[in-house]
Amino acid sequence: MITIAIDGHSSCGKSTMAKDLAREIGYIYIDSGAMYRCCALFALEHGLIAADGTIDTAALEALMPEIQVSFRLNAETGRPDTYLNGENVEQRIRTMEVSSHVSPIAALPFVRAAMTAQQQAMGREGGIVMDGRDIGTAVFPDAELKIFVTASDEIRAQRRYDELVAKGQPADFQEVLDNLRERDRIDSTREVAPLRQAPDALVLDNSHLTIEEQKQWLLEQYFKLTH
Ligand code: DC
Repeated sequence: MITIAIDGHSSCGKSTMAKDLAREIGYIYIDSGAMYRCCALFALEHGLIAADGTIDTAALEALMPEIQVSFRLNAETGRPDTYLNGENVEQRIRTMEVSSHVSPIAALPFVRAAMTAQQQAMGREGGIVMDGRDIGTAVFPDAELKIFVTASDEIRAQRRYDELVAKGQPADFQEVLDNLRERDRIDSTREVAPLRQAPDALVLDNSHLTIEEQKQWLLEQYFKLTH
């Protein structure tokens, strides 16, 4: 069993691809972004983010050992739900509020160190598909299959907007687009493990691909490598 790392910009459909591949080949899927979202939710719920966005980093650092993230299969959806300290937070980590605070949280070196350690522990045995920003570069630099996914800003914002509307969450297209660009900027320019393409990653621009086409492309890459 190999390790598969799928990185790329926000809202480019990485997680859909990664989840489908994992299910198809019987691997475990881990959404590393959900783990950073849990840290942001935890910080918000503990009052560690002021109205102007300032983070109480000393308090958050002291509380890091209390953030344990796990994933459990939801029998109804057939997909893993995210648990923060044993509580299902799958819905609560997907709100615009969490989305707008997560990038500065994910840029904190002590947050990355803690989540990277949890991710490496989850992937120790291989047989894993993990998606994120730094999986092929920092978490599993030796992953056998690395994919870097991207798509145009507008297409990504439209997909994200449609997703929020489908979930019945209030959404404004321009706000979604601005949030996505701002997250990409912070994710790409931070000092520790910035979003960048690993030199040995295969690049997929899925702007004009259907979910089914992406899925086929990814399966082909997996079979090329393993058969
Ligand atoms: O993929 P996502 O939108 O759920 O990710 C949420 C945030 O976490 C995003 O700002 C990037 C950050 N992230 C990261 O820094 N490293 C990862 N491996 C995954 C996500």
